[in-house]
Amino acid sequence: MHNNQVHSESVIENNEPQKWWHRRWVVIAGISFSFLIIIAVILSLLLKFVILVPKGSETINVTDALPSSTTTEATPISTPPLLTTTTTTNRQSGWLNTGSMNYARRQHKASVLASGKVLITGGYNGPFLNSTELYDPSTEIWTVTNSMNHARRDHISVLINGKVLVAGGIGDNNYRLDGAELYDPSTETWATTGSMNNARYSHTSSVLRNEKVLVIGGVGSSGLLNIVELYDPSTETWTVIDSMKHARGYHTSSILKNGKVLVIGGLGGKIALNSVELYDPLTETWTTIDSMNHARTSHTASLLKNGKVLVTGGSNISHELNSAELYDPPTETWTTTGSMNTPRVGHTASLLTNGKVLVTGSNTGSSHKSAEIYDPSTETWTVTDSMNHGRAYHTASLLKNGKVLHTGGAQNNMASNTTELYYD
Ligand SMILES: *[C@@H]1O[C@H](CO)[C@@H](O)[C@H](O)[C@H]1NC(C)=O
Ligand SMILES: *[C@@H]1O[C@H](CO)[C@@H](O)[C@H](O)[C@H]1NC(C)=O
Ligand SMILES: *[C@@H]1O[C@H](CO)[C@@H](O)[C@H](O)[C@H]1NC(C)=O
Ligand SMILES: *[C@@H]1O[C@H](CO)[C@@H](O)[C@H](O)[C@H]1NC(C)=O
Repeated sequence: MHNNQVHSESVIENNEPQKWWHRRWVVIAGISFSFLIIIAVILSLLLKFVILVPKGSETINVTDALPSSTTTEATPISTPPLLTTTTTTNRQSGWLNTGSMNYARRQHKASVLASGKVLITGGYNGPFLNSTELYDPSTEIWTVTNSMNHARRDHISVLINGKVLVAGGIGDNNYRLDGAELYDPSTETWATTGSMNNARYSHTSSVLRNEKVLVIGGVGSSGLLNIVELYDPSTETWTVIDSMKHARGYHTSSILKNGKVLVIGGLGGKIALNSVELYDPLTETWTTIDSMNHARTSHTASLLKNGKVLVTGGSNISHELNSAELYDPPTETWTTTGSMNTPRVGHTASLLTNGKVLVTGSNTGSSHKSAEIYDPSTETWTVTDSMNHGRAYHTASLLKNGKVLHTGGAQNNMASNTTELYYD
């Protein structure tokens, strides 16, 4: 057969002019070679622009993902050029360790400054702490700044007119503090700003629309307080106003979209409270409204984008709770919503930029490192990646870049200096 073909070819060729490129095998080889080159070009284009290109949301910035232990130096060192490598992965959210604080702390406070830096104040790690430190999200470096005049934990820390007001707390010899101090970020210094009329710790604060600060309840020198005071930043004075009906500490206070302040639950003696009171800044009065479905103390409360308030976990003294409930301001009523996957007390709750709520940690062993996310649209909880470190009585601050900075807290009952960022 083969010989016959060759023969017939040569017969045909013999009828044509004798040109070498007219030989059939040369033509076949040429076409095949061109075809191979085209295939190779297409394959290399595919490889370059489709397969090796990372898909946008799956890209992890390797410079962000680097362990940041090198960023804890007090003096910035010149950094090598940033890595530009990208890695593809299915992870879309998670935790990254960031620099360690200079002091281990629990029951400290955190405030995000106008500059985007985070000021950490006081806390406890054996002694009570007067030290404060600043976190710079752009360098991930912690810098010790000037100390407060008083060591304190379980105080309040709020941003007003660009300054940070801290007030009260518990200090050396378990002394309840009435003193207040203002931090000025431009000079990084503290100045005392009057004293509250009542020493207190585990109280709460809410900044009203008129920029005055409402300071609510807490544990005073001789027990739980229903006493409320108003701080006026323009005169730096403290004034006792209308009291709440119930004395309480370890409660929450949330400023609603209508400007009223919602005070929820807390410790009411030997029991946890389900009682809820509403402060109206226009009439300067308190009203007791519908109670929650479950009494709770050391819970969290978060104002959602839809104006409702999500309350999570806490303790009813005999048990840690996984239940959650929603307050609806227009109807002033409570409804239970999906329960968390684990009971939590001494945890944090952070409203993410996407409107979901991240809760982390607890002082119960099993949920120490765990984290879960509430979706207001489905009213359900989803377990997300656990933190790298167990935490309770820690802080969580939403940074301007959308990440959530978690700092310190109790880990096996010891204060921790670790910090980590949640990203999504
Ligand atoms: C990667 O992270 C570095 C440092 O945080 C930042 O400067 C850079 O803009 C980031 N790049 C991208 C593509 O996000
Ligand atoms: C943080 O605490 C660990 C363990 O106690 C310690 O080894 C480390 O030096 C501390 N880091 C800083 C920056 O103080
Ligand atoms: C802060 O506390 C430390 C240790 O107790 C003390 O040495 C220091 O003087 C205090 N600083 C201020 C400003 O009170
Ligand atoms: C505390 O919570 C537990 C678990 O939800 C429940 O069984 C118990 O009845 C509650 N106790 C009080 C006093 O509410």
